[in-house]
Amino acid sequence: MTAGYPPNAGQALLKHAVLVGAGRMGSAMARGWIADLGAAGLAKLSVVEPHPGDDVSQAAATKLIDLNPAPQVADIVVLAVKPQGFAGAADTLKAWVGPDTLVVSIMAGVTIDRIIGALGSKKVARAMPNTPGAIGMGATGFALSEACGEAEAAATAGLLEPLGFVAGPLKEAQMDAVTAVSGSGPAYVFLLVESLAAAGKSAGLDEATANALARETIIGAGALLGEFAESPAELRKQVTSPGGTTAAALDVLMTGGGMPDLMRKAVDAAVRRGAELAREAEKK
Ligand SMILES: NC(=O)c1ccc[n+]([C@@H]2O[C@H](COP(=O)([O-])OP(=O)(O)OC[C@H]3O[C@@H](n4cnc5c(N)ncnc54)[C@H](OP(=O)(O)O)[C@@H]3O)[C@@H](O)[C@H]2O)c1
Repeated sequence: MTAGYPPNAGQALLKHAVLVGAGRMGSAMARGWIADLGAAGLAKLSVVEPHPGDDVSQAAATKLIDLNPAPQVADIVVLAVKPQGFAGAADTLKAWVGPDTLVVSIMAGVTIDRIIGALGSKKVARAMPNTPGAIGMGATGFALSEACGEAEAAATAGLLEPLGFVAGPLKEAQMDAVTAVSGSGPAYVFLLVESLAAAGKSAGLDEATANALARETIIGAGALLGEFAESPAELRKQVTSPGGTTAAALDVLMTGGGMPDLMRKAVDAAVRRGAELAREAEKK
């Protein structure tokens, strides 16, 4: 699901794309594109990856994609290498990038200016996916450089769709907030499972039962959220009878600031850390 673009709106732009780095995230994108190159707006896909997985290797064996070809200027370059590998790879990557190449980066914390400075093209999209993106259930936010327009926005959104929900274009200044909410967000949910299981154990359940009940509860609640149009607040109210057990627990979680206040502080801390990390990366 993508916010607000007609299907293939960026297709005129999408001719030859090269994916650099087909690890967890890159191969999730590649799988989606390979399933229907035309639907992704791609006439040709090249993949640069030292250790390709089965999907990419099979697609290369059947000539659906080019694996590790000689570099040539591409219409689109998707960067899915680790941020710490970018500086070392930049000189090699330049061979794929011309003045009109759209560079789509999913590297955490690498700014648009840094990518423009390293690769030369002024058309850059910076995206922040999260770990569920590896199974197509992610949430990704993206921002664009000034030189990008509607076509690049649509092309970027379409290319990110195999990772799951896509929000954008946002302002680059908002990317630290995206990182703090959806990038780091899965960890907050995992902590919720851990905390719920530990509370279940101290309420009298054995460890295995507490873990399983907590885990399945979060999986089920997430599926409900995905299935129905109601807001999370409405779904919460539906399971909260006045004076009942859920209301007693929510009183503890919500009064005196409670969980909403704690979450705001946690997200603020992640935003501040994101800004610090970006400043440190600029100095390197
Ligand atoms: N995973 C997440 O949840 C997540 C969330 C947000 C953002 N991201 C971003 O997504 C990017 C990819 O993350 P990931 O988890 O998919 O990492 P990953 O699994 O390590 O994938 C990176 C891949 O790039 C390959 N590679 C390294 N240098 C290369 C080069 N010069 N040319 C071509 N390929 C190269 C690596 O091969 P080798 O293993 O052989 O080095 C590896 O297969 C990162 O920048 C990360 O910040 C990830």
